[in-house]
Amino acid sequence: MLRHSTLILLLTFAIVLIQSKKVTISNIKPRLNQWGSILDAHDGCILKFDPKGPYYTYATQYGPCIEPKRWGCDKTEDSCGFKYNHNITVVETYDFVNWKVVGSAVEISKRPEGTVFRPHAIYNKNNKKYVLWWNYVTTTGKYNGFAAATSDSPIGGFKTQVVQVNNTQQPAGDFTLFADEDGSGYAIISANYKIGIELLTPDYLASTGRQAECNPGAADPRFFPDYFVEAPVMFKRKNIYYVLFGSCCCFCQQGSGVIVYTAPHPMGPWKRQPGPDLACVPTNGTIIGNGEPTPGHGCQYTNPKTTSTLRAQQNHIVEVDTPNGKEYIWTGDRWQQAPDGIKAHDPQTWVPLKFGEDGSVLPITWVDEFEIDVL
Ligand SMILES: *[C@@H]1O[C@H](CO)[C@@H](O)[C@H](O)[C@H]1NC(C)=O
Ligand SMILES: *[C@@H]1O[C@H](CO)[C@@H](O)[C@H](O)[C@H]1NC(C)=O
Ligand SMILES: *[C@@H]1O[C@H](CO)[C@@H](O)[C@H](O)[C@H]1NC(C)=O
Repeated sequence: MLRHSTLILLLTFAIVLIQSKKVTISNIKPRLNQWGSILDAHDGCILKFDPKGPYYTYATQYGPCIEPKRWGCDKTEDSCGFKYNHNITVVETYDFVNWKVVGSAVEISKRPEGTVFRPHAIYNKNNKKYVLWWNYVTTTGKYNGFAAATSDSPIGGFKTQVVQVNNTQQPAGDFTLFADEDGSGYAIISANYKIGIELLTPDYLASTGRQAECNPGAADPRFFPDYFVEAPVMFKRKNIYYVLFGSCCCFCQQGSGVIVYTAPHPMGPWKRQPGPDLACVPTNGTIIGNGEPTPGHGCQYTNPKTTSTLRAQQNHIVEVDTPNGKEYIWTGDRWQQAPDGIKAHDPQTWVPLKFGEDGSVLPITWVDEFEIDVL
């Protein structure tokens, strides 16, 4: 009996040894695609649908546009962040080192005209469809909320189903989709500089109009108390639901912070993790990259004397399977920081999140690189 279980243990250990791969994730070297060029994939999501992988990225492809020096949010003729030809690129990876661009999720001609921001896909187990939403601004500058598409495959062939998702918070901007284990879908949405959560219909193509209790006890509890915030993410770890976001950082070079809320259920009640912002630290006055810090944005919104230790605005939390369980990797976009000023080459910051015994997220600091065992 003892020998039998020892054998099983050894076998399990051997399988883990064979299957896991130690990789170094670098924040100083650019990520490269299968052709050896810098991966053009920003403000999107990275997730896995099948336990055996791969991980899929759905992200914005900005193209070889040369950004004028200065503030990323300047909407001049030649600014790169507001063009209409950005693709929703799909990229496959097993190890976060080898990246394979698969193609575009939706052809530009088959989606509503405008500037695309923050594509986000999830799997809907209620109808076995892959659901992709993206935020867009029309050619007349109107924030049109979200378009939604579905596909039977994670790779592409997404068909636009709804050109304007019926959700309560408008005019909607950044968002993340979250699918709970029971099949319920949620969208965490930033609109009018405030963030709230809406329960979706079973097909994930509309909101039910039911909103979470984000500010318990307030006259209007539907929104988190923080103002001028965006780029929210939502995930679950050990029965705690987490929401992370930071001050608005419209392609801002200096990066933004990380505020944490937790709840026992996606509908709330949500509670702020005590303590200061996890990523805004006293500034050193350093200017990195091609652009200049946008005044009043990112960490500078709440305190002009701080800047982001991550040098980035939150993108997505990647849930990585390792032999020791799940690791949660914070990723952020480093706007205006491509050394050659090409928007497609703006880098990202990747840092593993660390949690306290009580589930709190510990302060996050910049690392040049880190190792991770990927299953
Ligand atoms: C998006 O894809 C189309 C078709 O491949 C291409 O013509 C266009 O340049 C791409 N846009 C960007 C911004 O790279
Ligand atoms: C949008 O949702 C609201 C409430 O959830 C509902 O009353 C309304 O009929 C919906 N509109 C459309 C066009 O579906
Ligand atoms: C500021 O400088 C200190 C000391 O060199 C360093 O530890 C810290 O990471 C720097 N902060 C930023 C945001 O670069």
